[in-house]
Amino acid sequence: MLCLKMSRLRSAMLKGKRAGLEAVESAKPEQKRSKKAVKEEETTHASSPSPTYHAFQAPADVLLLRSQLLSWYDKEKRELPWRTLAVTESDLNIRTYAVWVSEIMLQQTQVATVIDYYNKWMKRWPTLQDLAAATLEEVNQMWAGLGYYSRGRRLHEGAQKVASELRGQMPRTVDSLLKQLPGVGRYTAAAVGSIALGQVTGAVDGNVIRVLCRLRAIGADSTSPAVTEALWSQANTLVDPERPGDFNQAMMELGARVCTPKAPLCSQCPVRSHCHSFRKVHVKQERNSRKLLGKLDRKPSTLPDIEDCMTSDTCPLCPSEPWDDDLGVQNFPRKPAKKPPRVERTLTYVVVRPGEDGEDGEDEYLLTQRPNKGLLAGLWEFPSLLQGEKSSGMKEKRALCAQISGLLGTHLTESLFQYVGEVVHIFSHIHQTYVVHSVCLKDADTQTPTGNAQWLTGSALQEAAVSTGVKKIVKLCDSVDSQKEQTSKGGKRQKHSGTKNNKNQQTSKTKKLSAAGSGSRQLSLSAFFNSVKQES
Ligand code: ADE
Repeated sequence: MLCLKMSRLRSAMLKGKRAGLEAVESAKPEQKRSKKAVKEEETTHASSPSPTYHAFQAPADVLLLRSQLLSWYDKEKRELPWRTLAVTESDLNIRTYAVWVSEIMLQQTQVATVIDYYNKWMKRWPTLQDLAAATLEEVNQMWAGLGYYSRGRRLHEGAQKVASELRGQMPRTVDSLLKQLPGVGRYTAAAVGSIALGQVTGAVDGNVIRVLCRLRAIGADSTSPAVTEALWSQANTLVDPERPGDFNQAMMELGARVCTPKAPLCSQCPVRSHCHSFRKVHVKQERNSRKLLGKLDRKPSTLPDIEDCMTSDTCPLCPSEPWDDDLGVQNFPRKPAKKPPRVERTLTYVVVRPGEDGEDGEDEYLLTQRPNKGLLAGLWEFPSLLQGEKSSGMKEKRALCAQISGLLGTHLTESLFQYVGEVVHIFSHIHQTYVVHSVCLKDADTQTPTGNAQWLTGSALQEAAVSTGVKKIVKLCDSVDSQKEQTSKGGKRQKHSGTKNNKNQQTSKTKKLSAAGSGSRQLSLSAFFNSVKQES
């Protein structure tokens, strides 16, 4: 296998044998590379196959890259709360816990979004024992809006495990982090191990994949086993043994701020002199400008392209598609085409009742809890039902009405519900459309819901363990309400925004339920058009 060959070669190189060209190149800043050097490079590479093209081998290269990257990081890094804690917290258990929390939050979520959540979390649960003592409901509530909710649940499970089974001692090595903590994979164990515990290991996340693929022109599917192993091997070679945590965070920082997916800032990159992709762009530009000036010799096409892997036909790290000049360094990395998301439509019934505190009370919404496993596990949502692929929705409407009637101990019919509109929410693998209908019950005297259901005011709902989809639905209902208020000329407001109670709605306390204004309820223009569209 080429990988095996690569690693044998690398260790030979690390023992002192040099691959020649890479060390010579990296000693020179990119801007100072003369046209002559470029020309020499073209011919040298054309005639000297380099099976180790994708790897860093020369010790001098590795040392130089570390020092360039870390100097840049020391000057440019963002002050982030978990970085501060990793440096200032002397208690190893608290430090490891703090970095673990940050790494879990940062999986799939942008730094800017995480900061607030992280600060609130650490204020509420500064130690793993504090987190272990919390309820899952509190954790879900704190996590609400961050997405990928199983992450919070696993953190909670992990803290309980450390508190009860490991006598409060956080694991101290990458291996034990990986084995002992639920939700901690190869990357997270390496990141926590290096940042909190000073373990010498590379850490390869999405940003680091991009940086390394560009540096070493790795263009095969970046999710393939061969590429994954090559990247981890590179990261382990490059990591600075004196500052492994800083080195890994510097690689991530570079990927997040300079070597970005789109419009990368190559001219600001501290390690561009090591970058095969940058060099390729640069050499091609040189070539084009020489061509324009008529200086190129007559037989360039007989040469292999500038500095490519010499075994590209069989190399598991080389792209299967040719380099695209328009993309420049963005030729790397390559991912397989994403599977299109599953398209789903979910019938959603927003049931509102006037609050219990008279005219100053807020309206209340009926919410049900999702199962403890699967998507949005344990979160609260409006009663809803996935629509069958070809369903007109009637069957689901009947079933959902029956479900709600059961919860409230009464009888509701589909005709009480009015179409409000649609809310689109994109999950990583699902394109979800909530088809929203609502009913405003006249009667505050509905039975306390049974099972996993509860009434929540609009403001309590904003603080509760609900998904972003639920908040979007509330927003839709509110905006339709205010449009209705504006368009109805002096008509009574039939509202369900959780802000103020409408005294007129609460008329009787009969056990039989009825819907406020059903039938005569005036639709807003947008709701009208939506309903026409939906029904046609
Ligand atoms: N992404 C993952 N871990 C990170 C960290 N420690 N700092 C910034 N971004 C990150």
